[in-house]
Amino acid sequence: MTQTHRDRIEQVRALLARHHQDHILRFADRISADQQRQLLSDIESLDLEALDALVEQYVRQEPHFALPDEILPPATYPIEPGSKLREKYRQARRRGERLIAEGKVAAFVVAGGVGTRLNFDGPKGCFPATPIKKKVLFQVFAETIRAAEQRWGGVIPWYVMTSRANHEATERAFAECDHFGLEPSNVMLFTQGMMPSFDRDGRILLAEKHRLAMSPDGHGGSLRALYRSGALADIKRRGVEFISYWQVDNPQVRLIDPLFIGLHAEDAAEMSSKAVIKCDPLEKVGNFTLVNDRVTVIEYSDLPEDLARKQDGRGRYVFELGSIAIHLISRSFVERINEHGFSLPWHRADKKVAYVDEHGEPVQPNKPNGVKLETFIFDALPLAARSIILTIDRVEEFAPIKNAEGVDSAESSRVLQIERFARWLESAGVRVPRKSDGAVDAVIEISPFFALDAGQLQEKKSLLPAAIQPGQQIVLE
Ligand code: UTP
Repeated sequence: MTQTHRDRIEQVRALLARHHQDHILRFADRISADQQRQLLSDIESLDLEALDALVEQYVRQEPHFALPDEILPPATYPIEPGSKLREKYRQARRRGERLIAEGKVAAFVVAGGVGTRLNFDGPKGCFPATPIKKKVLFQVFAETIRAAEQRWGGVIPWYVMTSRANHEATERAFAECDHFGLEPSNVMLFTQGMMPSFDRDGRILLAEKHRLAMSPDGHGGSLRALYRSGALADIKRRGVEFISYWQVDNPQVRLIDPLFIGLHAEDAAEMSSKAVIKCDPLEKVGNFTLVNDRVTVIEYSDLPEDLARKQDGRGRYVFELGSIAIHLISRSFVERINEHGFSLPWHRADKKVAYVDEHGEPVQPNKPNGVKLETFIFDALPLAARSIILTIDRVEEFAPIKNAEGVDSAESSRVLQIERFARWLESAGVRVPRKSDGAVDAVIEISPFFALDAGQLQEKKSLLPAAIQPGQQIVLE
């Protein structure tokens, strides 16, 4: 080791000691020079001043959510417009189609998560998701983008946020699959920020003797990563004004939706959301509310049960709207909040974090031992001067694949995908066999190139069979 290198380590050790984190150099004298460089680079990526405050506020104590004094239900655009809104929806849809054709809309998927619950070896976007063809999630999205370009014209650039944990594997998947048929110059992959994991005393954990335990900084990090990575500058250069945001685990998302885009633009909103009516007042999704006149999502765990169960005079739940992490974000909003440095509130998660102990022995904990800090995208909503909510039909747009089995799994998503395709066919007059409990008795897959929605399928009536047979597998592409 050269003298300068040794000096550098000692300098860093002194700096870390001031922040009570010098234990992370505990093995520095016993690792190779390359490993030392790696460790120093991990350490240099930390903002130690900021971490001190976060440790105090979120790690050493369990933060308590302060319930706002006044929580109101927000206004929403309904699934089906009544007579007063019908013309507005028509106009909005036309405006949305025009904006797509003029190249004013970009697609943005966040795919930086680690996907612990799914237990899948590889980026979540490479998970085979569709009922028959087993197309991977990235392929479903790419085909939807291409089909939208063919239908409405214009180019829809696609931004894919990854994290240090899956960036290379994601890049490889895109290269091996020819960017899933998209023009490579219209696809941009970039990484999000990382945060260290802590023990409950606020000490940063070591994943290896020469690596800090780090994890992605949450989907809220996407708004900063867009800016820092240069993606936002690229979006501006292309003249794009609206960014359609979704999460990688939802194959059902209508990721280019003229109505949503048009309503957002007509109302001059900065960040908008799609919502579903919750199936149960205590369903584990974020709740849309209005706080200080701003749309605000309150997590299910923070909304008191009496509020969750509160009903209006007609027996409807007052806080019936659940968040499904689909947003439309104006480019100018992302620029505005980044220009002067912004921060979203942090959320603490107690997780199992593998680490090396003080003897250098690797430990695989079997219960939560560490604290991770993340920011959430919906916390940006109150920063928006205007924000609309469009309620959508859950079956049409939400079939997440989060767990290996059970609720929100590949199997539950498959059932929902088939149900949606069945409904589209039924609305076009095709007889679809159903079992006594209403479940579809067939396996159906419709490619985005064949139809992006029920309306487009109806235009192809002449290509459809009169009926599907019980147990039949049918692909329309
Ligand atoms: P989840 O909250 O489901 O997290 O992310 P996850 O990491 O994918 O899965 P678990 O909780 O470990 O099982 C919802 C969406 O947000 C993205 C994910 O890729 C997914 O699309 N996400 C999450 C990020 O892009 N970055 C993050 O730091 C966290």
